[in-house]
Amino acid sequence: MRILFLTHAFNSLTQRLYTELHEAGHEVSVEFDIHDNFSLEAAELYQPDLIIAPFLKRAIPQELWRNYVCLVVHPGIRGDRGPSALDWAIINGEQRWGVTVLQANAEMDAGDIWAFSEFQLRDDTKASIYRNEITQAAVDAVLKAVQRFEQGDFKPQPLDYSDPEIHGTLQPLMQQSDRTIDWGQDDTQTVLRKVRCADGFPGVKDELFGRELFLYDAHLESILTGRPGDVIARCGHAICRATVNGAVWIGHLRDKQSEHPFKLPATMVLQEEITGIPEIQPGLDSGYRDIWYEEQGGVGYLHFPFYNGAMGSDQCERLRQAYIKARLCDTKVIVLMGGPNYWSNGMHLNLIEAAESPADESWRNINAIDDLALEIINTDSHLTVAALQGNAGAGGVFLARACDEVWARDGVILNPHYKDMGNLYGSEYWSYLLPRYAGPENVERITQGRLPMSAKEAHELGLVNAVFEQEVSGFVEELQLRATAMAKAPAYESRLEFKNRNRATDEAHKPLQQYRDEELERMRLNFYGFDPSYHVARYNFVYKIPKSRTPITIARHRRIGRKLRRVS
Ligand code: COA
Repeated sequence: MRILFLTHAFNSLTQRLYTELHEAGHEVSVEFDIHDNFSLEAAELYQPDLIIAPFLKRAIPQELWRNYVCLVVHPGIRGDRGPSALDWAIINGEQRWGVTVLQANAEMDAGDIWAFSEFQLRDDTKASIYRNEITQAAVDAVLKAVQRFEQGDFKPQPLDYSDPEIHGTLQPLMQQSDRTIDWGQDDTQTVLRKVRCADGFPGVKDELFGRELFLYDAHLESILTGRPGDVIARCGHAICRATVNGAVWIGHLRDKQSEHPFKLPATMVLQEEITGIPEIQPGLDSGYRDIWYEEQGGVGYLHFPFYNGAMGSDQCERLRQAYIKARLCDTKVIVLMGGPNYWSNGMHLNLIEAAESPADESWRNINAIDDLALEIINTDSHLTVAALQGNAGAGGVFLARACDEVWARDGVILNPHYKDMGNLYGSEYWSYLLPRYAGPENVERITQGRLPMSAKEAHELGLVNAVFEQEVSGFVEELQLRATAMAKAPAYESRLEFKNRNRATDEAHKPLQQYRDEELERMRLNFYGFDPSYHVARYNFVYKIPKSRTPITIARHRRIGRKLRRVS
């Protein structure tokens, strides 16, 4: 079938549905919901069999839902309606939640139900639930709905609140007043729930040192206590605030009124205010940890769940030091775990945007990632594995490919290209790694195509070595079994020798330094050259400037339109 996506953005959920429907044999084209006229034009150009709205912020124009079956993906259980579905589910502590696929009509979220899927709601941020459970449930429900639509005789179920199976209700847009933290009353769990239900967007508005700030990236502190609301400690880039019965860490803040009104590490936003606050080192039960190491059965596991998968220069350097330390341990395999939401999304674009010289900080950041990649590629003492529990994008994909093996959770999405960031050339030794693993014949397709890729497709191309388990917990259990088996395999030594021989041969053929120099020469032009595309694209990304048109790489119907116009 021809399916048109009408969506606010090509976000992770939309990308996942795009790859799943493609793999199920459908043709998908994407139109951003920018203006009703564009949406109508898109339908006219593409003549889709079906329209799906995976992520919409406005109603679908009447002309569309009257002429086409339009299926809306709503991130709520049956009967739930309104724009803050997941926010309410988290703050209310719901046990079960779900996704409903319903047919658009005159009333928002009240159309006939084509399919639904439910799950146990975890205690985590809205962004994490959205990227994991909601996305998986959306895939299940959309595939079911599409199959039913294809059958032709399926009658969707009208929404009937008298049905005892319907538990959802109409809920309003959640306001900041619904999220406000009362530091003198709210216990730690309530504070965590309030921050998490607004994380990634919009954040919880709060006051600190007389400044209005939005809070993100909240974690439990198990030992420290203090006067409720006070900032009682700092650790890494996070600050610790006492609650009535404990304390929480806040890793990121946003000051809308400041020169840099986007999310930044908390200690950077409050630089001046927290000079006298005691600094603690992260431990097992106390502090804010963004890098840690553990060992089991001859395998070292290095975790780095950086917020939003963004890796700043200092984070890369700390990770490199932790990696070098891990390499000194008496283990056989090192697994680079990333985090449960992202493995890595490459350079930290917010930190770069906030730097005095974004060009210099870009240069520092790309070199810091390259230094880390180099240590991984040149590891001759261990076999290495990148374990993609979550998505990876741009340089993050190639950093993963620097490992001997890449294992991905089924459902992970990769964006192994840089060009969308203002024609960025990219580094991380991609010009060595991509042809080596995906074959020279696929390099152009991957880098120029600029399309998201499922873990399965990445596996077929050689960017990923194994794909297993849909859920993060199952994936971690299975990868531990596999890593232990790898460390204990009788062929381990010969495999290590083989890897080291290959590396030496490759190095003799063309040194890694040469790949790096060639890549960085192009990156220098991106950062310091006359063409400002990268700086403009980064600004737009960080400031979340809405796109004014759908990229032609995903708007297939506009490519068709172009061809037709050229012929006529
Ligand atoms: N630096 C800083 N923040 C980043 C980031 C990066 N490299 N990559 C993602 N983020 C942030 C986004 O700004 C967003 O922030 P929010 O929490 O305020 O909404 C959040 O992470 C999620 O990103 P989003 O784009 O909404 O997620 P997605 O899953 O839909 O898309 C990507 C994933 C990787 C396609 C997209 O985030 C992207 O293009 N990132 C930039 C990659 C890049 O060019 N890196 C630099 C070159 S190495």
